[in-house]
Amino acid sequence: IRRKKKTVIDHVRVASYAFCFDIDGVILRGPNTIPEAVEAMKLLNGENKYNIKVPSIFVTNGGGKPESARATDLSQRLQCTITPAQIIQGHTPMKDLVGVYQNVLVVGGIGNVCRNVAESYGFKHVYTPIDVLKWNPAVSPYHDLSEEDKKAAKEVDFSKVSIDAILVFADSRNWAADQQIILELLLSKHGVMGTESKTYDEGPQIYFAHSDFIWATNYKLSRYGMGALQVSIAALYREHTGHELKVNRFGKPQKGTFKFANKVLTHWRQGVLDEHLKKLSIDDPNALTDADILINEHGEEIINQNRLETYDDENDSSDGEIKEPLALVKKSEKITLELPPASTVYFVGDTPESDIRFANSHDASWHSILVKTGVYKDGTVPKYTPKHLCENVLDAVNYAIEREH
Ligand code: G3P
Ligand code: MG
Repeated sequence: IRRKKKTVIDHVRVASYAFCFDIDGVILRGPNTIPEAVEAMKLLNGENKYNIKVPSIFVTNGGGKPESARATDLSQRLQCTITPAQIIQGHTPMKDLVGVYQNVLVVGGIGNVCRNVAESYGFKHVYTPIDVLKWNPAVSPYHDLSEEDKKAAKEVDFSKVSIDAILVFADSRNWAADQQIILELLLSKHGVMGTESKTYDEGPQIYFAHSDFIWATNYKLSRYGMGALQVSIAALYREHTGHELKVNRFGKPQKGTFKFANKVLTHWRQGVLDEHLKKLSIDDPNALTDADILINEHGEEIINQNRLETYDDENDSSDGEIKEPLALVKKSEKITLELPPASTVYFVGDTPESDIRFANSHDASWHSILVKTGVYKDGTVPKYTPKHLCENVLDAVNYAIEREH
């Protein structure tokens, strides 16, 4: 006689650990997707032998497009859903400067894209180098604005505007013109074009979205990046003034970006759990019986997402699978779960100076993995030593999952 029946939960779990990926040189090379990245994402989305879903975010020094456009592009390439909430670009943490500066000059990217991104962050008065060139083409000799640029440019009288900050959002498409304008403003009186400070301390602040000297594209050798422009501007400033330029930096390996990334990761991990909870009660109401949701000591949610089995209470010992839950959440209760921080964050990057330094510097629970598909060249000694070195992003994910189980 079968006695009382009880629910056994065959669980898909959400991992207590997480991943953070660099993009260029790990997921992409120029316009090309690194093929192993597609399989790597499948593993993280639960298609692994441990039936575990691993939360992940992307931290790139790149930019020049909205986070939503980056998410759509990555979703297509990686054949899975990536949302803007998972993306941090070099300029994303510059959101925190909204309210600090009134008039900003945004440098880099194509046409009006970076202006639009800055406005979407909340900046009220956003100007670009093409606005300046439209105002007075003689600012940069030997350069004519294209018809597209003329259309994108705003009508502004820069002899009446005081630029408070220069924000280099993305790679300059025109170093000569951008350098002329940036230097002129740095040396100006209160950020007004056509003026010159005698003391060199009246100009606007300058911020760079990152400092990568080189980066990996689809060309054989690495290309100069925004960090090289920074070096060049600082050299010109030094030559002109005899002083060192004070630069404010975002991006990896900066601590500000690390804090921002942690905030985003916490939010994303919480979202992944909430999603499971929602699915559980909406799609599978019958799945909920006496033991509805179990949370283990790692803050992992053990949920009855896949299937339910019944078993004979007396003869079955299979409930040993679920050990000592930390919390039991009843169906009727409103579920709010405060997650502990990720047990380990695996950071996969290709550039020792920005990625490995970033992952090694700020928190001991971050575990740096260097891949050979980008800036780092096999056989050389990386300037910052990763905890693990492997071929590509798929190897990195396999390594981390095996290390955890
Ligand atoms: O301009 C982007 C480049 O410097 C690096 O991007 O994704 O490798 O951080 P990423
Ligand atoms: Mg990279």
